[in-house]
Amino acid sequence: MVFLSSIQGIKSRESTVADLQLIHPKLPSEDPANSVTLHKSYYTNPAIFEQEKQDLFYKTWHYAGWVGDLQEPGQYLTASLFDQHVIIIRGRDGELAGFHNVCKHRGHTLLNGKGRVTRITCPYHSWVYDLKGQLKRARASETTPALDMERMQLTPINVDVVAGLFVFFNLDVGAPALDPQLTDLVADLEQEIPQLKDLVHANAPQEESDPELGTFIENAYPVNANWKIVMENFLECYHCRPSHPDVEALFTLGDLTYEGHDLWAKQKSSVAGIEGGKQIFWTLFPNLILSTVVGEKPHLSVFIFAVPDGPTRTLPGYGGYYQLPDDDGTRILKQNFNQVGAEDKALCESAQRGMTSLGYDQGVFMYAPDKSECTEEASHAFSRFVVKYVGRN
Ligand code: FES
Ligand SMILES: [Fe+2]
Repeated sequence: MVFLSSIQGIKSRESTVADLQLIHPKLPSEDPANSVTLHKSYYTNPAIFEQEKQDLFYKTWHYAGWVGDLQEPGQYLTASLFDQHVIIIRGRDGELAGFHNVCKHRGHTLLNGKGRVTRITCPYHSWVYDLKGQLKRARASETTPALDMERMQLTPINVDVVAGLFVFFNLDVGAPALDPQLTDLVADLEQEIPQLKDLVHANAPQEESDPELGTFIENAYPVNANWKIVMENFLECYHCRPSHPDVEALFTLGDLTYEGHDLWAKQKSSVAGIEGGKQIFWTLFPNLILSTVVGEKPHLSVFIFAVPDGPTRTLPGYGGYYQLPDDDGTRILKQNFNQVGAEDKALCESAQRGMTSLGYDQGVFMYAPDKSECTEEASHAFSRFVVKYVGRN
């Protein structure tokens, strides 16, 4: 019966996809001036969400932490992506390696948090792996012919370091390395933050808790909307003037610029409160945001902005804060995004309701290359990134 229902599950997924192909063949096209947005099914359909997990998230690069936590042999950190958990560890040869964080015996989690080990010992029955993931010891292995010690290794993942600072992982071991694909992003980061290479991971400045609204995270999450609605909303400011009446207390819409690239986007604008200061957000697709305020002490915030929790719910992820080693933690500017966060949550949730309306199928991206506060080119670039992995035509 279980087998039968799983076949039916596959069939219903196939028919959903086939229906979509027949009825709604349009995908966002290369030209942002003549492109539809994603069809509404991409924001609601559980089969498409599952495909996004398998074909997009499990095949793209995700932020794991700071390379400074992985300097010495045996230093490790752990990270998660949906229900996949990984270890990234420095080997005795100085190389980084990554593995699924699961013991090959009975599936117990091997390591938690971050730290340093001389070998990886499973807490459950004490199987011992070396730093390359090779099984080295298992009690009673001599009398268990089913266990081939030499061939028993932790399942590897792909690991890379971007800008000499940020550790990323990709569950797809065949995926091309990330850092070489981001030379333009790293060059841009270095231009905006010349001390980038000197930054170290630190505790983020304490977030101001608004007496009425609370913190940004409390206001902005969870979002009862698909993660792509959250990303697409972040990537355009066409909505800023009508929907964020006080936004210019944070940054200036008049000189806002947007850039959309294949793998990332950038938005930059003057910032209120600092003469000549700039607020910059870099978005690395699918869902990571790096931000800084030029004019403050050199710093960079890294934040997984949209963690999907099913097709119609989005949570915040973990992140990191980077500053110069001698920074005493004082900042020039206190920005308060609480109100904007609450407004964006409401906007995204309203747009999500539209995705089940019989009166809506898919929209268009507004194109205004000379008027960045109106253009949706970065949202378009993001949508093109999505369809590269899950698009069907
Ligand atoms: S599950 Fe790891 S040793 Fe048994
Ligand atoms: Fe917004």
